[in-house]
Amino acid sequence: MKYNVAVIKGDGIGPDIVDQALLVLDKVGEKFNHTFNYTEVLAGGAALDAVGVPLPDETVKICKESDAVFLGAVGGPKWDVLPGNIRPEKALLGLRSALGLFANIRPAIMYKELADACPLKPEILGEDGLDLVVIRELTGGIYFGERGVKTTEYGESAYDTMIYSEVEVKRIAKVAFEIARKRNKKVTSVDKANILDSSRLWRSVVEEMAKDYPDVALNHLYVDNCAMQLVVKPKQFDVILTGNMFGDILSDEASMITGSIGMLPSASLGSSKLGMYEPIHGSAPDIAGQDKANPIATVISAAMMLRYSFDLEKEALAIEKAVEKVLAAGYRTGDIYSNGKKLVGTKEMGQLISDAL
Ligand code: IPM
Ligand code: MG
Repeated sequence: MKYNVAVIKGDGIGPDIVDQALLVLDKVGEKFNHTFNYTEVLAGGAALDAVGVPLPDETVKICKESDAVFLGAVGGPKWDVLPGNIRPEKALLGLRSALGLFANIRPAIMYKELADACPLKPEILGEDGLDLVVIRELTGGIYFGERGVKTTEYGESAYDTMIYSEVEVKRIAKVAFEIARKRNKKVTSVDKANILDSSRLWRSVVEEMAKDYPDVALNHLYVDNCAMQLVVKPKQFDVILTGNMFGDILSDEASMITGSIGMLPSASLGSSKLGMYEPIHGSAPDIAGQDKANPIATVISAAMMLRYSFDLEKEALAIEKAVEKVLAAGYRTGDIYSNGKKLVGTKEMGQLISDAL
């Protein structure tokens, strides 16, 4: 089969890590007889430099026409001085919204080989590590509500609005319950319903939806409590369902429990098969182009693309197994390095995973 992938290498370490993931994808193609056609498109800082906008129309058009979008990372200090509406990050939000990608799936799985890199005491996770998934709403909430700056008698004031509709909550809740059904059948919905109206609506819609899933257990946590529970009793979680900003924060926290933010992939999905796949970490400009970045989150994002957009489960598993094999053999990039292991760069890690396939 042939698959068309729009590729956004992006800024900072983006090109470093995407190149390695494409190397691995090509190896999968060779082994399982698939062709992946890549169309490179511009977004973020690279697009600002080339054409003066973070998300050119041409990019959106090509992404829409593709079978999937594969992205490295965008942003960097060079563009931080720009106003909010033309920052590189705008490209990410613009793509999520233009492609209708309301569901962000962020699995936090700890590889047993990386137990050393976990900052929690060993007894907190026990033998079998961590395996949870954050389902983050991605095209609503405070990221997309009305915002503005105005001059008041106290000087400039700025505001952002957290707003959720029933329809938005329903569709993301459905994704969480469906995923829970295929896992350990537990959904923890996270909100701030003791304070926010948008959270009270969120909670009541989720409760209503739960009636259709009697086989899935549902509980609710306030976001501050959830942040605490994640480091005290992380194993209580199976599926965490939450809004855009809470999910942004909690997924970074969950990622560190697994050892490094450099290990966590993500899939952003909508109502069709077209999805966008990217590591959850940023563009790490301080190590860009130095062959230091960990490409694993990006490589596993490629596995998610095979699974969710192309229905290639066996191929996705092959990538995940290859990553495990390389870790088991003791190879580590700097972020997951511990004494006695073999330190490798971005390129060598990519090559090792490709060879393991
Ligand atoms: C993420 C990132 C983005 C977000 C930024 C880069 C816009 O932190 O994907 O988690 O906040 O959604
Ligand atoms: Mg984030």
